[in-house]
Amino acid sequence: MLKGRHLIEPKDFSKEELEEIFNLTDKIVEKPEKFNKKCSGKILANLFYEPSTRTRLSFEAAMFRLGGEVVGFSSADSSSVSKGESLSDTIRTVGCYSDICVIRHPKEGAPKLASLKSEIPIINAGDGGHQHPTQTLTDLMTIRSIKGTIKNFTIGICGDLKFGRTVHSLIKALSRYDNIRFILISPEELKIPDYIKDEVLIKNNLEFKETEKLESSLKDLDILYMTRVQRERFFNEADYIRLKDSYRLDNKKLELAKDDMIILHPLPRVNEIASEVDEDKRAKYFQQVKYGMFVRMALIIKLLGVDEEC
Ligand code: NCD
Repeated sequence: MLKGRHLIEPKDFSKEELEEIFNLTDKIVEKPEKFNKKCSGKILANLFYEPSTRTRLSFEAAMFRLGGEVVGFSSADSSSVSKGESLSDTIRTVGCYSDICVIRHPKEGAPKLASLKSEIPIINAGDGGHQHPTQTLTDLMTIRSIKGTIKNFTIGICGDLKFGRTVHSLIKALSRYDNIRFILISPEELKIPDYIKDEVLIKNNLEFKETEKLESSLKDLDILYMTRVQRERFFNEADYIRLKDSYRLDNKKLELAKDDMIILHPLPRVNEIASEVDEDKRAKYFQQVKYGMFVRMALIIKLLGVDEEC
């Protein structure tokens, strides 16, 4: 039963509960118009203390497509935070106005803290360099739809594995599926944090390899998950500038990859995927964006516990 629950990190829901969300997403993808009144009379609050395009707008679009309404802010400057209000006071206030609340915050753990003070479901839309569970729902849904299943593959995760919260959530979530091998591709300074390596990869006996080389890894991959170097999390600009162009996927490099490999990216991209790659049939990142909205529609329905039968 997902009604009334919070989603702070991917493992808050069991594999079976995720499967329920994916099955409902399949139904929504098939006939979205059947769901266009499911949330009428309900209000979603979008509290974004950090910039966002896809996550914020996809939650907004999802709620509108379900017939609900959206309130919120898109930067801390335009809320009472700029007057010094605490997160817990903001959350208690928002709980008086809305039925479900999405929160993105630069501080790790902020959505968790909010959930402890909240009577309505809280969804973590990204907390600092920590977790981003709804991007993971998007990623898993995309893999499941295109590959037909979430097991038996080698995934290369490339770029900023240190600060990339989508990477941390995705590895955590994939650790529960069968026969998945990880190739973690990053510069030395942007390697996966030890807590993910020790607590997730090693503890669960997962097969993984760390490397700095994208080219030599490509031939082994079924999925390539590219990421942006997270400028906003660096302590100094010089380090960012030195590392920002560590990887660039282009058509020439793609010649080394399998014909049925799929390329994912949570977006936004900067330079890590050349725009010429968009035309390659393996590029699935814009399809991924679409699944992001549909899976969020399913998530909202489940957490609000509205009748999902059509
Ligand atoms: C990601 C994020 O915010 O962590 N974007 C997103 O939500 N799709 C990835 C990123 O910003 O690089």
